[in-house]
Order: sequence, then C-alpha cells, then structure tokens
Amino acid sequence: MAMDALPRVLVLHGPNLNMLGQREPQIYGHTTLADINAMLVALGRELGVEVETFQSNHEGELVGKIQAARGHMAAVLINGGAYTHTSVAILDALLAVDLPVIEVHLSNLYKREEFRHHSYIARAAVGQICGFGADSYLLGLRAAVAIIQRKQ
Ligand code: DQA
Repeated sequence: MAMDALPRVLVLHGPNLNMLGQREPQIYGHTTLADINAMLVALGRELGVEVETFQSNHEGELVGKIQAARGHMAAVLINGGAYTHTSVAILDALLAVDLPVIEVHLSNLYKREEFRHHSYIARAAVGQICGFGADSYLLGLRAAVAIIQRKQ
C-alpha cells in the first residue's frame, strides 16, 4: 500500500497567518488562509501530491511539525511569517530534516521594512518566492513538485 501512496508536501504557515483576509488586507490581500489551503489541496491533487497544511502562532509547534516531517514528507513549503526574520530554531529544524524546503511569502519582503529583508529560513531553502500574494503558495507548490519529480 505504502508503495502506491502519493508523495506528501507539508505546508506550514507561521504566526498571524490565521488572520489572513482581515489582517492588513492592503498588504496581504483578502484571501483567507482556508481559501489558500483549499487551493493548495486542489492543486496538489492535480499535480499528483498530497498536501498537508498546518498553521501555528507558536515557534515550538512549528519546530515539532518540521521534525515530524522527516521520513514522511517529500518537501516542505513554508511561510514562516515573522519567525522568518527571527527564528534560528526553525532554521535548525529545517536543516535537520534534510528535505527540500521552499520558502514563500505573500508580500514582497524587499519592498518593505529593512528588518524583513533578512530570512533565516532562506539558508535552508532551495529558493524563495515572494510578492505574488496567495499565488506565491501555488507557485511554491509547483516548485516543490518539480523537485520531487526530478528525484523520482
Ligand atoms: C509574510 C512577511 C513577514 O514579514 C510577516 O511577518 C508576515 C507575513 C508574508 O507572507 O508576506 O507575517 O511572511
């Protein structure tokens, strides 16, 4: 049975992303997190991967979820929210699991405040997609699937 299972992609959303749709819509748009997750699951189905989504406002929960991905997931897509700019713990967890990591952000970090220009997550990522709103996630999932297919 396991041999027939689809590759799985873990999508992680960091702090405050549960408030998408209400939160600073001029920056983050009107799409809710539930909308984004539904689009990811549907695109995953189309591309032949199973998407699991998880949001947390707690750094340790995100670290735990990343650790648990080892051996079970084929790739990790992550929008670390503000932890992107602060969390060595999330960076270390991503390095520890040794999976392809794709970093995404709704907004273009490089048009914004200086403190958003640095990402700890970037050091563990294959690449970063930012500035395309909810489409950043969908582009990120396509990138993850391309990496998974190259490995197969
Ligand atoms: C964000 C950008 C971060 O700087 C910010 O803290 C967020 C969202 C984005 O998706 O644009 O929470 O990751």
